[in-house]
Order: sequence, then C-alpha cells, then structure tokens
Amino acid sequence: MGIETIRWAGRSVRIIDQTKLPGELVYIDCKDVETLARCIEQMKIRGAPALGIAAAYGLVLGVLDAGSGAEFEKKVDVTLERLRRTRPTASNLFWALERMRSVAVANRQEEPHRIRELLLEEANLIFEEDRKVCQQIGNNGAVLLRDGMSVLTHCNAGALATGGYGTALGIVYAAKDQGKRIHVFADETRPLLQGARLTAWELMRKGVEVTLICDNAAGSLMRRGGVDCVIVGADRIAGNGDVANKVGTYGLAVLAKQNGIPFYVAAPISTLDMELSDGDQIPIEERAPDEVTRGFGLQTAPEGVKVRNPAFDVTPHELITAIVSEEGIARQPYAPILKQWAEKGNAEDRARKIGRV
Ligand code: MRU
Repeated sequence: MGIETIRWAGRSVRIIDQTKLPGELVYIDCKDVETLARCIEQMKIRGAPALGIAAAYGLVLGVLDAGSGAEFEKKVDVTLERLRRTRPTASNLFWALERMRSVAVANRQEEPHRIRELLLEEANLIFEEDRKVCQQIGNNGAVLLRDGMSVLTHCNAGALATGGYGTALGIVYAAKDQGKRIHVFADETRPLLQGARLTAWELMRKGVEVTLICDNAAGSLMRRGGVDCVIVGADRIAGNGDVANKVGTYGLAVLAKQNGIPFYVAAPISTLDMELSDGDQIPIEERAPDEVTRGFGLQTAPEGVKVRNPAFDVTPHELITAIVSEEGIARQPYAPILKQWAEKGNAEDRARKIGRV
C-alpha cells in the first residue's frame, strides 16, 4: 500500500503528521514557511531524504507571493535562513536548499512567476529523483539479502523517511519484490520511538513480517543467532565513511562486530558530505530533555533531573561492512569510492544546470 509522506498541493506542502502515527493517519497542509519549519522541528516530518524534499518545497512556499528583483531575492534569503535553522544533522536538507538556491540565483533576471515555476520544477525533480534513487538503492542492496534472512534495523529509514520508498527499508522491499522472504527486527528507538511507531506500522502495512524489540534487546538477540544482518539509513556520511545516524546506531555497530554480523548502511549520494573528512566534524542535534523525561506526556524521570538528549551518533567507518547507494555497494576503504560517487553527483548537478539555463 502506497504511503504519501509528502507532496506539493498547489499552494501548500502536504505532509503526513508522523507524530500522530500509528494511532491516526492525518495530513497537515503547510501553507507558509514558518508552519513547515515548525513541522520539521517537531518531527512531524523527519528522515534525511524527506527533509531534503520538504526543504525544497519550503523554498517554493517562501516565494509564492514575492514581487520582483530585490524583494524576491530577500524572500529567498529569509526562507533559506529559516529552513537551515530547523535541524542541523541531515545533509540532505542543506543539499536540497543549495540546489534550490542555485536555481533562484541562475534565473534572477527572469520574472517572478517564471522563477517560481523553475523552483517548483526543481523541487518536483528532487522529489522524483528521490523515489528513483531509493528504488535503485533497494535493487543494489537486495543482493545482500537471501531468502529467509532476519534483518535488524533502527529508527525509520523507510517510505516515511523519504519520498515514499525508503533507503534501509528500500533494500527489504526490493528483496521482497524479488520473492525473498525477509523478516525485520525493528528497534523501538528511544526516545521518540520511530521504530515502534513508524517502522513497525510501515512494514505491517506493506506486508513485511516485523518483530518489534526494545533497543536494549538487540545485543542478546544477536548473540543468540537471531539476526543475520543490520541495515540502517544515514543522516550524514563524512568523506572517510563515518556515518551519523539515529542515536543508538553506533552501539548496534559495535554489537554487530562483536557477534560477527554484517552491518550495512543505505543512503543516497545526497547524504554524503565530502567537506567533512571524518565523522567527528558532523554537527549532532541535541533535542529537548522532556523527550527523555516526559515522552508522549508521561513523566518517567524525576522533575529537574539533568538530561543529555543527542538525536544522532556517529559510527566509525571501521565498523561498517558496506555502504549501499544508488551507485552501488562500497566496501572499505571508503574514501576513494565515496569521492567518485560525490564527483558523479556534482557532475550531474552541473549538467542539469547547464541544460536549464
Ligand atoms: O530524527 P529523525 O527521525 O529524522 O532521524 C532519522 C534517522 O536517523 C534515519 O535513520 C535516517 O534519516 C535515515 S532516513 C532514510
């Protein structure tokens, strides 16, 4: 069953309110940049590729009624600035905003209605590309899965985190389409329970066998032989292959290594950040303490206790068996192949720009 995570709805961006899942499937129409930016901050829409698509449409929202010349340019700048402040870790958001900015800049001599058209075309392209890219990641990664395997995943890297297919879960969907029976262990994913609320919901809806586990059950399951491989998504990948992903990913990678289990990362090239030589430079979002002490409205820790709530962690490349992208499967050493992938992505961006301008 299709899941429409996000779409352009004429003069608004329509998103599934992911904070209401799995109880209710409701949509929000974001009619202005501020509403969309808050939805991103409150994680009504989340997941690196979906954030890129949302940000791209966000720029279109920002210039809907902009006049010409300096006024248009000002609206572009203010919108970019607001959207860049929403969430700091996922590369895709910044990558998509940069693509949108360059379209606005390259066409600034055009009438506002024409620049708007071109911006909407670019945002639609980012959306359509994501669907194709995820399908390709799925096809590339499906060779890693054999019939009957059990895959452990963390957070949600599926349709709800992308334009509608998924990265880590895209591999599971592609393997299923090839007739393989794949079972998924979904980590609950404290504190916001993306695994329990979103991954379990999405997999059940798509007819994939799923078993929900508490995060801290993963180690003993691996040790008892219940897990054949781990597949996770990524929010940002540094030039050496270090991967930022949902907090808890690093621990899983250590456990996988200890238990001799392959640990795979699935992500589009837009998640690469070749400006960062290693993962220590990736900005890690710190979120509000009450997500830990009062999750979903229930007080579970003493009032006033000190809390650390990093939303992501970094898994060093040595612990990663392979990185799967739309370009193929990379294994260690990662640096040269990630560089090739990134250069190909940049060349495609340049070719698209030349074709348009
Ligand atoms: O905080 P979130 O829910 O936006 O974090 C998302 C994740 O960490 C996902 O695993 C990652 O973005 C990959 S999404 C395909």
